[in-house]
Amino acid sequence: MEFGLKHNTPESARSACQIISVSQARKLSASGQRVDKASKGYLASVLKRGDMEGRLGQTLLLPSVPGASSQRVLLVGCGKGSDMNERGFTRVINAIISALAASGARDAEFYPADIALKGRDLAWKVRHTVLLMSNSEYRFDRLKSDKPGHPKGLRKLNLNAPKNDARVKRAISEAIAISAGMSIARDLGNLPANVCTPSYIARQARLLAKGDKKLRVNVLDEADMKRLKMGSLLSVSAGSRQPAKLISLEYRGAAAREQPIALVGKGVTFDTGGISLKPGAAMDEMKFDMCGAASVVGTMKAVSEMQLPINVVGIIPATENMPDGLATKPGDIVTSMSGQTIEILNTDAEGRLILCDALTYAAKFKPRCVIDIATLTGACIVALGKIPSAVLGNNRALINDLLKSGQQVEDKVWELPLWDEYQDQLKSNFADMANIGGRDAGTITAACFLSRFTKDYKWAHLDIAGTAWKSGEDKGSTGRPVPLLTQYILNQIK
Ligand code: BES
Ligand code: MN
Ligand code: ZN
Repeated sequence: MEFGLKHNTPESARSACQIISVSQARKLSASGQRVDKASKGYLASVLKRGDMEGRLGQTLLLPSVPGASSQRVLLVGCGKGSDMNERGFTRVINAIISALAASGARDAEFYPADIALKGRDLAWKVRHTVLLMSNSEYRFDRLKSDKPGHPKGLRKLNLNAPKNDARVKRAISEAIAISAGMSIARDLGNLPANVCTPSYIARQARLLAKGDKKLRVNVLDEADMKRLKMGSLLSVSAGSRQPAKLISLEYRGAAAREQPIALVGKGVTFDTGGISLKPGAAMDEMKFDMCGAASVVGTMKAVSEMQLPINVVGIIPATENMPDGLATKPGDIVTSMSGQTIEILNTDAEGRLILCDALTYAAKFKPRCVIDIATLTGACIVALGKIPSAVLGNNRALINDLLKSGQQVEDKVWELPLWDEYQDQLKSNFADMANIGGRDAGTITAACFLSRFTKDYKWAHLDIAGTAWKSGEDKGSTGRPVPLLTQYILNQIK
């Protein structure tokens, strides 16, 4: 979809559709009142008849409004003033998306300033609108033989702002970049594991770098990992016929001496659990176990689209977790790149086993901070549900920055405590640590495990088990937390 920043007046905007908000009870927005005047009271008479209350998310499409400059007027309800919050705003935009998709309008005029939303400025409303609209366009039908095609629907949305506002302009281009990144992340997530293998992710990373001189890719194979003594990562790929890859994507937008932000994404392209085999129900969803990796690729895409003046490095340990004659067995002890030994009591706790070596490897980039992103624990869904991602880490300021970035882009994050007391659960009788910490506080003990490999830098861990994809009828990758990560990076520049 195309987005234009315009300064059209409601009387003069010529398009297929004017979007006019109505609040309860039956009150036209400022732009609406001007269109109403041009139509000699037609809109007011429709409201008076009771065809539109203005309830939150209600819509009414009026064709050929007399005196209006556009072919249609779409009335959209914003509810009572007290209803309007971020969720309410999202509902309004989604209602507009559905109503326009059902109409024949190819372009439309929108006046985001008309919708009052406490604590959010015009730039935020514009950014959120662009994100929701672009995301609504996303389809994953490349593997269907009968592609529906999308001849209908909106092609262009004009966002009308009172004056030339640099922040609004930037909001549009940032939202377009974020949504391009989300789309790549969603594609990688949605692709089945027989297509999206570790080698496939490496190929996509190379493809991304081809389009940008500031991006460099390096892919390590299993022999390289062996030389680097990544015994933990290799223990996960041991049972797989697909070779593991350790992919790094370096974006250099600032001087070489400036330390990069490092993003480390879990890339388990399929998680069977290994010898600690998972039950069969919904196991197909374990193709999404590389969504951390996908969010790293997506964020690099967004950063590259915007050509940001900052250094960022993405690191992706990619592997399958399979049962096999050569697979790691419960009780096996491996030595990680850090030199610490790990007793693998459950081969299904594989994410931390690949991340720990990738986190040790990350130090070589001398990062200013490291953020890992992983579909790491089912326990995260038990603790927090599917609304926020969990964040834990060893640096207060970094965690606060992530919490704030999440609020800015409505890609929510909630902190869990990483207290020392929990470390005891990782005790092993035979090695430096076990790879599981028992039933209690599974998300926290997973982070405790990672914390033993991140002592030398500022680090935060995002558990995206509940947020990276949706199950059920809407099954599919969400593209989260690309908005959060991209916003975090943007905040480090401004
Ligand atoms: N990829 C899973 C975590 C997961 C499960 C995410 C379901 C989303 C939905 C991870 O590798 C895993 O299997 N974790 C285990 C850890 C346990 C063995 C300590 C889990 O959560 O059960
Ligand atoms: Mn697992
Ligand atoms: Zn997993």
